[in-house]
Amino acid sequence: MASILITGGAGFIGQAITRALSESPSHTITIVDNFARGRIDADLQSVLDRPNVTFIQGDVTDAAFFETLPTNFDYIYHLAAVIGVRNVMEKPDKVLYVNAISTLLLFEYAKRLPNLKRILFSSTSEIYAGTLKHFGITVPTPETEPLTLDDISSPRTTYMLSKMYGESICFNYGRLYNIPFTIVRYHNVYGPRMGFLHVVPEMFIKIRDNDGSTIDVASPSHTRAFCYIDDAVQSTILVTEHEQTQGEIINIGNQEQEIAICDLVKTIAKVMGKTITLNQLPDTPGSPARRCPDTSKIKTLTGFVPKIGLEEGLSRMYAWYADKLDSRHE
Ligand SMILES: NC(=O)c1ccc[n+]([C@@H]2O[C@H](COP(=O)([O-])OP(=O)(O)OC[C@H]3O[C@@H](n4cnc5c(N)ncnc54)[C@H](O)[C@@H]3O)[C@@H](O)[C@H]2O)c1
Repeated sequence: MASILITGGAGFIGQAITRALSESPSHTITIVDNFARGRIDADLQSVLDRPNVTFIQGDVTDAAFFETLPTNFDYIYHLAAVIGVRNVMEKPDKVLYVNAISTLLLFEYAKRLPNLKRILFSSTSEIYAGTLKHFGITVPTPETEPLTLDDISSPRTTYMLSKMYGESICFNYGRLYNIPFTIVRYHNVYGPRMGFLHVVPEMFIKIRDNDGSTIDVASPSHTRAFCYIDDAVQSTILVTEHEQTQGEIINIGNQEQEIAICDLVKTIAKVMGKTITLNQLPDTPGSPARRCPDTSKIKTLTGFVPKIGLEEGLSRMYAWYADKLDSRHE
């Protein structure tokens, strides 16, 4: 039996992790979310209906809220955060506040948990952006790459800063208070229920609305590596439970699926059964030519390799989105 707490459990990755973990009757799962972004839709409701899942509406920046939580958890997945380019540009104060305070309070709370086997902290590929911009970076990028902060006055920097701060909390609280942790740096996770403010759902809408005509694509030769949600979920659970990943930083992504943006758009059109012509625009200033994680560490430590190829993942994603494109929300 394992008792599991998932913060941000109504969100994209949190709901999917809850769904996967709750398949096992030996797991008792408590999810916490304040619906800053997550929502109760049919997918989440079907998970909440399971007998081993409990939902608590609460704010993980509220110290008093932690006093109300049980203290018998074995594992904690800390996924609650304020994320996304729009939030980062419009609400950098919330990014700094929520992402820092929630992690501090969680580790303060963790000092009181006698059974705790691991906290999973969700960091990001964005943490490499300053090094990439100012010094160039090894691509595929390993976890050992030195980190550099970009322009401290820019709202955009708040997200990477908040995640660097979170990683520092893990190492320092971990060492001082013997709190076991694993940090994952997610790289471009995609799949059903990820909202509409992302290149793939945006492209679903653009291609649907422009059937037969030309689609503008900026930075067409730039490459990115996309990781399907099921692979992200499986690898996250694996590294949270694996002995060899205690105290480690792990890239989660799909190194084998690096693809040029123009080919991504063609593959999206293919899974939608649409014919399009690409209008290749110039590169967007500041857009890195290549972004791809080095995922050899997770493979060496746990044997994990992603299983879902891009076309398969996009097909599954489109099957979910096809009848929801008119109800777009954040
Ligand atoms: N999706 C990706 O590709 C990606 C990439 C890099 C990092 N990450 C990290 O993974 C984690 C999960 O990402 P996601 O894509 O599922 O994001 P998401 O926005 O879908 O989920 C975050 C959840 O946290 C909740 N939340 C926010 N503030 C809260 C608060 N104060 N109290 C309680 N709940 C709160 C939101 O309502 C939301 O449901 C985040 O920490 C994010 O930084 C994700």
